[in-house]
Amino acid sequence: MAKADQIKALISSHLKRDDERFLTVALQLAASEAKRGHTNLAHQIRELIDSQERQTVKVVSISSDLADLVQEGQIADDIASLVVSDRLREKISRIVREYHQAEKLAKHGLGNRRKILLSGPPGTGKTMTASVLAAQLGLPLYTVQLDRLITKYLGETGAKLRQIFAMIRKRNGVYLFDEFDAIGAQRGMENEVGEMRRVLNALLQFIEADESRSLIVAATNNLHSLDNALFRRFDDVLHYAKPSAEEIESLMKNRLGAFRGKFAISKVAGQASGLSHAEITQACDDAIKDAILSDRKTVTQKRLLEMITDRKTAYGNNHSQ
Ligand SMILES: Nc1ncnc2c1ncn2[C@@H]1O[C@H](COP(=O)(O)OP(=O)(O)O)[C@@H](O)[C@H]1O
Ligand SMILES: [Mg+2]
Repeated sequence: MAKADQIKALISSHLKRDDERFLTVALQLAASEAKRGHTNLAHQIRELIDSQERQTVKVVSISSDLADLVQEGQIADDIASLVVSDRLREKISRIVREYHQAEKLAKHGLGNRRKILLSGPPGTGKTMTASVLAAQLGLPLYTVQLDRLITKYLGETGAKLRQIFAMIRKRNGVYLFDEFDAIGAQRGMENEVGEMRRVLNALLQFIEADESRSLIVAATNNLHSLDNALFRRFDDVLHYAKPSAEEIESLMKNRLGAFRGKFAISKVAGQASGLSHAEITQACDDAIKDAILSDRKTVTQKRLLEMITDRKTAYGNNHSQ
Protein backbone atom coordinates (compact mmCIF):
# COMPACT_ATOMS: atom_id res chain seq x y z
CA MET A 1 0.00 0.00 0.00
CA ALA A 2 1.34 3.44 -0.92
CA LYS A 3 1.99 5.82 1.92
CA ALA A 4 -0.77 8.24 0.85
CA ASP A 5 -3.30 5.42 1.04
CA GLN A 6 -2.04 4.46 4.46
CA ILE A 7 -2.45 7.99 5.78
CA LYS A 8 -5.97 8.16 4.39
CA ALA A 9 -6.79 4.76 5.87
CA LEU A 10 -5.46 5.87 9.25
CA ILE A 11 -7.63 8.99 9.23
CA SER A 12 -10.76 7.24 8.05
CA SER A 13 -10.40 4.39 10.57
CA HIS A 14 -9.87 6.92 13.34
CA LEU A 15 -12.97 8.88 12.31
CA LYS A 16 -14.97 5.65 12.25
CA ARG A 17 -13.54 4.71 15.64
CA ASP A 18 -12.41 1.45 14.09
CA ASP A 19 -9.48 0.74 16.40
CA GLU A 20 -8.81 -2.67 14.96
CA ARG A 21 -8.41 -1.27 11.46
CA PHE A 22 -6.43 1.69 12.73
CA LEU A 23 -3.89 -0.54 14.46
CA THR A 24 -3.68 -2.87 11.47
CA VAL A 25 -2.91 0.03 9.11
CA ALA A 26 -0.41 1.47 11.60
CA LEU A 27 1.34 -1.92 11.71
CA GLN A 28 1.42 -2.04 7.92
CA LEU A 29 2.92 1.43 7.92
CA ALA A 30 5.60 0.28 10.34
CA ALA A 31 6.31 -2.73 8.12
CA SER A 32 6.64 -0.66 4.96
CA GLU A 33 8.87 1.89 6.70
CA ALA A 34 11.07 -0.97 7.90
CA LYS A 35 11.30 -2.23 4.31
CA ARG A 36 12.43 1.23 3.18
CA GLY A 37 15.24 1.00 5.70
CA HIS A 38 13.63 3.40 8.19
CA THR A 39 14.04 0.98 11.03
CA ASN A 40 14.03 3.57 13.78
CA LEU A 41 10.74 5.05 12.66
CA ALA A 42 9.30 1.53 12.23
CA HIS A 43 10.43 0.68 15.73
CA GLN A 44 8.91 3.84 17.20
CA ILE A 45 5.57 3.20 15.50
CA ARG A 46 5.52 -0.34 16.88
CA GLU A 47 6.36 0.92 20.35
CA LEU A 48 3.43 3.35 20.21
CA ILE A 49 1.08 0.57 19.14
CA ASP A 50 2.42 -1.81 21.76
CA SER A 51 2.03 0.64 24.63
CA GLN A 52 -1.55 1.31 23.53
CA GLU A 53 -2.32 -2.39 23.19
CA ARG A 54 -0.83 -3.22 26.54
CA GLN A 55 -3.31 -0.84 28.16
CA THR A 56 -6.41 -1.92 26.34
CA VAL A 57 -6.10 -5.58 25.62
CA LYS A 58 -5.08 -7.05 28.94
CA VAL A 59 -8.59 -7.15 30.31
CA VAL A 60 -10.21 -8.69 27.26
CA SER A 61 -10.86 -12.40 27.52
CA ILE A 62 -10.41 -14.70 24.55
CA SER A 63 -13.12 -13.50 22.22
CA SER A 64 -16.05 -15.87 22.09
CA ASP A 65 -15.43 -16.27 18.36
CA LEU A 66 -12.20 -18.04 19.13
CA ALA A 67 -13.06 -19.79 22.36
CA ASP A 68 -13.17 -23.25 20.80
CA LEU A 69 -10.08 -22.74 18.65
CA VAL A 70 -7.64 -21.16 21.05
CA GLN A 71 -7.17 -22.60 24.50
CA GLU A 72 -5.12 -21.24 27.31
CA GLY A 73 -2.70 -23.94 28.39
CA GLN A 74 -0.95 -24.96 31.56
CA ILE A 75 2.40 -23.35 32.10
CA ALA A 76 5.11 -25.48 33.63
CA ASP A 77 8.13 -23.64 34.89
CA ASP A 78 10.35 -26.68 34.92
CA ILE A 79 13.13 -25.95 32.51
CA ALA A 80 15.36 -27.88 34.92
CA SER A 81 13.43 -31.09 34.36
CA LEU A 82 13.47 -30.70 30.58
CA VAL A 83 16.05 -33.22 29.41
CA VAL A 84 17.46 -32.21 26.05
CA SER A 85 20.87 -32.02 24.41
CA ASP A 86 23.12 -29.08 25.25
CA ARG A 87 22.59 -27.80 21.75
CA LEU A 88 18.82 -27.70 22.17
CA ARG A 89 19.07 -26.11 25.58
CA GLU A 90 21.31 -23.44 24.11
CA LYS A 91 18.78 -22.80 21.36
CA ILE A 92 15.97 -22.49 23.88
CA SER A 93 17.89 -20.01 26.01
CA ARG A 94 18.78 -18.00 22.94
CA ILE A 95 15.08 -17.59 22.16
CA VAL A 96 14.51 -16.38 25.73
CA ARG A 97 17.53 -14.04 25.71
CA GLU A 98 16.58 -12.46 22.39
CA TYR A 99 12.98 -11.99 23.50
CA HIS A 100 14.00 -10.20 26.68
CA GLN A 101 16.28 -7.90 24.74
CA ALA A 102 14.14 -7.47 21.65
CA GLU A 103 14.19 -3.69 21.89
CA LYS A 104 17.95 -3.59 21.91
CA LEU A 105 17.96 -5.67 18.74
CA ALA A 106 15.21 -3.60 17.13
CA LYS A 107 17.29 -0.46 17.48
CA HIS A 108 19.68 -2.07 15.04
CA GLY A 109 16.92 -3.17 12.73
CA LEU A 110 17.08 -6.78 13.89
CA GLY A 111 14.22 -8.97 15.05
CA ASN A 112 14.36 -11.44 17.92
CA ARG A 113 13.83 -15.04 16.85
CA ARG A 114 10.19 -15.75 17.60
CA LYS A 115 8.86 -18.03 14.86
CA ILE A 116 10.02 -21.44 15.91
CA LEU A 117 9.54 -24.87 14.38
CA LEU A 118 9.90 -27.88 16.69
CA SER A 119 10.28 -31.25 15.05
CA GLY A 120 10.84 -34.74 16.36
CA PRO A 121 9.17 -38.01 17.38
CA PRO A 122 6.19 -38.01 19.76
CA GLY A 123 6.94 -37.69 23.48
CA THR A 124 10.31 -35.99 23.20
CA GLY A 125 9.34 -32.65 24.74
CA LYS A 126 7.96 -30.39 22.02
CA THR A 127 4.77 -29.44 23.82
CA MET A 128 6.69 -29.26 27.08
CA THR A 129 9.14 -26.83 25.47
CA ALA A 130 6.31 -24.48 24.47
CA SER A 131 5.15 -24.49 28.07
CA VAL A 132 8.66 -23.93 29.41
CA LEU A 133 9.15 -21.05 26.98
CA ALA A 134 5.93 -19.41 28.18
CA ALA A 135 7.14 -19.69 31.77
CA GLN A 136 10.57 -18.33 30.95
CA LEU A 137 9.12 -15.40 29.04
CA GLY A 138 6.38 -14.68 31.57
CA LEU A 139 3.75 -15.07 28.84
CA PRO A 140 0.49 -17.01 28.69
CA LEU A 141 0.45 -20.18 26.59
CA TYR A 142 -2.22 -20.48 23.93
CA THR A 143 -2.74 -23.68 22.03
CA VAL A 144 -4.44 -23.34 18.69
CA GLN A 145 -6.71 -26.28 17.85
CA LEU A 146 -6.15 -26.45 14.15
CA ASP A 147 -8.03 -29.69 13.59
CA ARG A 148 -11.21 -27.95 14.69
CA LEU A 149 -10.70 -25.40 11.96
CA ILE A 150 -11.37 -28.14 9.46
CA THR A 151 -14.03 -30.07 11.28
CA LYS A 152 -16.07 -27.08 12.45
CA TYR A 153 -15.29 -24.20 10.16
CA LEU A 154 -15.00 -25.72 6.75
CA GLY A 155 -15.30 -22.89 4.26
CA GLU A 156 -14.48 -20.12 6.70
CA THR A 157 -11.02 -21.22 7.69
CA GLY A 158 -9.42 -18.12 6.16
CA ALA A 159 -11.55 -15.81 8.26
CA LYS A 160 -10.81 -17.81 11.41
CA LEU A 161 -7.08 -17.75 10.75
CA ARG A 162 -7.28 -13.98 10.36
CA GLN A 163 -8.98 -13.74 13.75
CA ILE A 164 -6.36 -15.97 15.34
CA PHE A 165 -3.54 -13.83 13.98
CA ALA A 166 -5.32 -10.67 15.11
CA MET A 167 -5.28 -12.15 18.61
CA ILE A 168 -1.59 -13.01 18.24
CA ARG A 169 -0.96 -9.34 17.43
CA LYS A 170 -3.13 -8.01 20.18
CA ARG A 171 -2.22 -10.27 23.00
CA ASN A 172 1.35 -11.21 23.68
CA GLY A 173 1.73 -14.88 24.31
CA VAL A 174 3.31 -18.12 23.23
CA TYR A 175 1.03 -19.52 20.52
CA LEU A 176 1.44 -23.23 20.01
CA PHE A 177 0.31 -24.74 16.72
CA ASP A 178 0.67 -28.32 17.87
CA GLU A 179 1.02 -31.06 15.27
CA PHE A 180 0.06 -28.43 12.79
CA ASP A 181 0.83 -30.53 9.74
CA ALA A 182 -1.60 -33.19 10.85
CA ILE A 183 -4.60 -30.94 10.25
CA GLY A 184 -7.47 -33.17 9.34
CA ALA A 185 -5.07 -36.00 8.47
CA GLN A 186 -6.58 -38.50 10.85
CA ARG A 187 -9.89 -38.13 9.11
CA GLY A 188 -8.24 -38.93 5.80
CA MET A 189 -11.28 -38.16 3.68
CA GLU A 190 -10.58 -37.26 0.09
CA ASN A 191 -12.31 -33.91 0.04
CA GLU A 192 -10.62 -32.90 3.26
CA VAL A 193 -7.10 -33.52 2.00
CA GLY A 194 -7.35 -30.60 -0.40
CA GLU A 195 -8.84 -28.43 2.32
CA MET A 196 -6.04 -29.43 4.68
CA ARG A 197 -3.38 -28.37 2.15
CA ARG A 198 -5.15 -25.09 1.65
CA VAL A 199 -5.36 -24.38 5.38
CA LEU A 200 -1.74 -25.35 5.88
CA ASN A 201 -0.63 -22.99 3.13
CA ALA A 202 -2.79 -20.18 4.45
CA LEU A 203 -1.39 -20.76 7.93
CA LEU A 204 2.17 -20.56 6.66
CA GLN A 205 1.41 -17.33 4.86
CA PHE A 206 -0.04 -15.85 8.03
CA ILE A 207 3.03 -16.95 9.97
CA GLU A 208 5.30 -15.38 7.39
CA ALA A 209 3.42 -12.08 7.45
CA ASP A 210 3.16 -11.89 11.21
CA GLU A 211 5.07 -9.02 12.80
CA SER A 212 3.68 -9.28 16.31
CA ARG A 213 5.73 -9.63 19.46
CA SER A 214 4.22 -13.00 20.32
CA LEU A 215 6.13 -16.24 20.01
CA ILE A 216 4.79 -18.59 17.34
CA VAL A 217 5.70 -22.20 18.00
CA ALA A 218 4.76 -24.83 15.44
CA ALA A 219 5.34 -28.45 16.38
CA THR A 220 5.44 -31.45 14.08
CA ASN A 221 6.05 -35.18 14.50
CA ASN A 222 6.72 -35.65 10.85
CA LEU A 223 9.07 -33.19 9.28
CA HIS A 224 9.38 -35.26 6.13
CA SER A 225 5.84 -34.54 5.13
CA LEU A 226 6.71 -30.86 4.90
CA ASP A 227 8.43 -29.22 2.00
CA ASN A 228 11.65 -27.30 2.27
CA ALA A 229 10.08 -23.93 1.52
CA LEU A 230 8.56 -24.24 4.95
CA PHE A 231 11.80 -23.87 6.84
CA ARG A 232 12.46 -20.43 5.47
CA ARG A 233 9.40 -19.08 7.23
CA PHE A 234 10.80 -19.86 10.64
CA ASP A 235 13.55 -18.07 12.53
CA ASP A 236 14.80 -21.30 14.02
CA VAL A 237 14.18 -25.04 13.77
CA LEU A 238 14.68 -27.21 16.86
CA HIS A 239 15.17 -30.93 16.28
CA TYR A 240 14.06 -33.27 19.05
CA ALA A 241 15.19 -36.87 19.36
CA LYS A 242 14.72 -39.90 21.58
CA PRO A 243 16.96 -39.60 24.65
CA SER A 244 20.57 -40.83 24.63
CA ALA A 245 21.76 -43.27 27.31
CA GLU A 246 22.99 -40.37 29.41
CA GLU A 247 19.75 -38.46 28.95
CA ILE A 248 17.72 -41.51 29.96
CA GLU A 249 19.63 -41.56 33.25
CA SER A 250 19.00 -37.87 33.95
CA LEU A 251 15.37 -38.29 33.07
CA MET A 252 14.98 -41.24 35.48
CA LYS A 253 16.87 -39.54 38.29
CA ASN A 254 14.73 -36.40 37.91
CA ARG A 255 11.50 -38.27 37.76
CA LEU A 256 12.14 -40.79 40.53
CA GLY A 257 13.48 -38.10 42.87
CA ALA A 258 13.17 -39.26 46.46
CA PHE A 259 11.69 -42.56 45.29
CA ARG A 260 14.97 -43.62 43.73
CA GLY A 261 16.16 -46.85 45.34
CA LYS A 262 19.74 -47.81 46.05
CA PHE A 263 20.58 -49.36 42.70
CA ALA A 264 22.70 -48.21 39.80
CA ILE A 265 20.37 -46.34 37.51
CA SER A 266 22.69 -47.04 34.56
CA LYS A 267 21.74 -50.73 34.65
CA VAL A 268 18.08 -49.90 34.17
CA ALA A 269 18.64 -47.03 31.76
CA GLY A 270 20.16 -49.36 29.17
CA GLN A 271 16.88 -51.26 29.01
CA ALA A 272 14.94 -48.12 28.20
CA SER A 273 16.85 -47.38 25.05
CA GLY A 274 14.48 -46.66 22.18
CA LEU A 275 11.70 -45.35 24.39
CA SER A 276 10.69 -41.69 24.24
CA HIS A 277 11.02 -39.26 27.14
CA ALA A 278 7.28 -39.49 27.66
CA GLU A 279 7.31 -43.31 27.82
CA ILE A 280 10.22 -43.34 30.27
CA THR A 281 8.47 -40.74 32.40
CA GLN A 282 5.36 -42.91 32.44
CA ALA A 283 7.37 -46.01 33.38
CA CYS A 284 8.93 -44.11 36.31
CA ASP A 285 5.52 -42.85 37.40
CA ASP A 286 4.13 -46.39 37.24
CA ALA A 287 6.99 -47.66 39.38
CA ILE A 288 6.42 -44.84 41.91
CA LYS A 289 2.71 -45.62 42.09
CA ASP A 290 3.52 -49.26 42.62
CA ALA A 291 5.88 -48.38 45.49
CA ILE A 292 3.28 -46.14 47.12
CA LEU A 293 0.53 -48.73 46.86
CA SER A 294 2.73 -51.43 48.33
CA ASP A 295 3.91 -49.14 51.13
CA ARG A 296 7.51 -49.03 50.04
CA LYS A 297 9.55 -45.85 50.38
CA THR A 298 11.50 -46.40 47.20
CA VAL A 299 11.22 -47.98 43.80
CA THR A 300 13.03 -51.30 43.35
CA GLN A 301 15.20 -52.06 40.36
CA LYS A 302 13.12 -55.11 39.51
CA ARG A 303 9.82 -53.24 39.42
CA LEU A 304 11.25 -50.34 37.44
CA LEU A 305 12.61 -52.79 34.88
CA GLU A 306 9.19 -54.42 34.61
CA MET A 307 7.53 -51.06 34.00
CA ILE A 308 10.04 -50.29 31.27
CA THR A 309 9.46 -53.64 29.61
CA ASP A 310 5.75 -52.92 29.84
CA ARG A 311 6.21 -49.68 27.93
CA LYS A 312 8.36 -51.37 25.35
CA THR A 313 5.78 -53.99 24.59
CA ALA A 314 2.82 -51.67 24.92
CA TYR A 315 2.92 -50.64 21.28
CA GLY A 316 4.51 -53.74 19.80
CA ASN A 317 8.16 -53.69 18.91
CA ASN A 318 8.04 -50.69 16.67
CA HIS A 319 10.34 -48.21 18.31
CA SER A 320 12.22 -47.38 15.20
CA GLN A 321 10.32 -44.13 14.69
N1 LIG B 1 12.72 -33.81 26.82
C1 LIG B 1 11.97 -34.11 27.88
N2 LIG B 1 12.45 -33.93 29.14
C2 LIG B 1 11.71 -34.24 30.22
N3 LIG B 1 10.47 -34.74 30.15
C3 LIG B 1 9.93 -34.95 28.94
C4 LIG B 1 10.65 -34.64 27.75
N4 LIG B 1 9.88 -34.96 26.70
C5 LIG B 1 8.73 -35.42 27.19
N5 LIG B 1 8.74 -35.43 28.54
C6 LIG B 1 7.64 -35.89 29.41
O1 LIG B 1 6.61 -36.43 28.59
C7 LIG B 1 5.44 -35.60 28.61
C8 LIG B 1 4.86 -35.47 27.22
O2 LIG B 1 5.81 -34.87 26.36
P1 LIG B 1 5.42 -33.79 25.24
O3 LIG B 1 6.15 -32.53 25.50
O4 LIG B 1 3.94 -33.70 25.15
O5 LIG B 1 6.00 -34.50 23.94
P2 LIG B 1 5.77 -34.11 22.41
O6 LIG B 1 5.05 -32.81 22.37
O7 LIG B 1 7.14 -34.03 21.82
O8 LIG B 1 4.97 -35.24 21.83
C9 LIG B 1 5.91 -34.29 29.18
O9 LIG B 1 4.87 -33.63 29.84
C10 LIG B 1 7.02 -34.73 30.14
O10 LIG B 1 6.49 -35.21 31.36
MG1 LIG C 1 3.14 -32.58 21.64
